[in-house]
Amino acid sequence: MSEFEKIKNLLLWYERAGINTFFNVSCPHIDAEKEKEEVNAQPADKARLLEELRQEIGDCKRCRLHKTRTNLVFGEGNPDARLMFVGEAPGEEEDRQGRPFVGLAGQLLTRLIESVGLTREEVYIANVLKCRPPGNRNPLEDEIKACSPFLFRQIEIIQPRIICALGSFAAKLLLGQNIAISKVRGRLLKGINGYNVFPTYHPAYLLRNPRQKKTAVEDFKRIKELLEKG
Ligand code: URA
Repeated sequence: MSEFEKIKNLLLWYERAGINTFFNVSCPHIDAEKEKEEVNAQPADKARLLEELRQEIGDCKRCRLHKTRTNLVFGEGNPDARLMFVGEAPGEEEDRQGRPFVGLAGQLLTRLIESVGLTREEVYIANVLKCRPPGNRNPLEDEIKACSPFLFRQIEIIQPRIICALGSFAAKLLLGQNIAISKVRGRLLKGINGYNVFPTYHPAYLLRNPRQKKTAVEDFKRIKELLEKG
């Protein structure tokens, strides 16, 4: 990739994350005091801070998806998780229940988590978007821009040791690069904001391409090893 393309991708990422101004920074999604508290959150405070964030999001109408959603899917799991999963967006079942990864892809994710001796309760699961795109279409740029600041705040509160990006939308957002998931999966990479990002295939992709499940199982084993190392 040329230097020009790298800078262009970086600026596109900032724009997607809602940052339009560099020298007169104004971000409608966060105030400075709140940010300090979230970044330095102690384990005991994390559940409260996540609940406050949920209240702040409220009955969100920040993008068009509010018109077609049934429930907003905030995310769930251990507020002090060492491992966090980030998927793309809620599907039909998630929209119905208001919980992430509870449909067929979610059942596969649960099996992959349990295959390495972990449980859903000890990790945290969220998505790039908190509302279902109609017909499960891909997220649009302006939807990611409106919603992703809330994901970043969840990450700042939880401070996971590893963020597993499920599929290309999560990997692109968290790495700040326009990458192909097949090129980056299976490795721990430095993402934006210093995040430790481990991309792997999205479970919905694995349902469509069952031969890749073996690769995903290997990726999950690697994640477990990395968590055990510290
Ligand atoms: N696919 C996702 O990306 N997220 C979910 O919560 C469910 C399916």
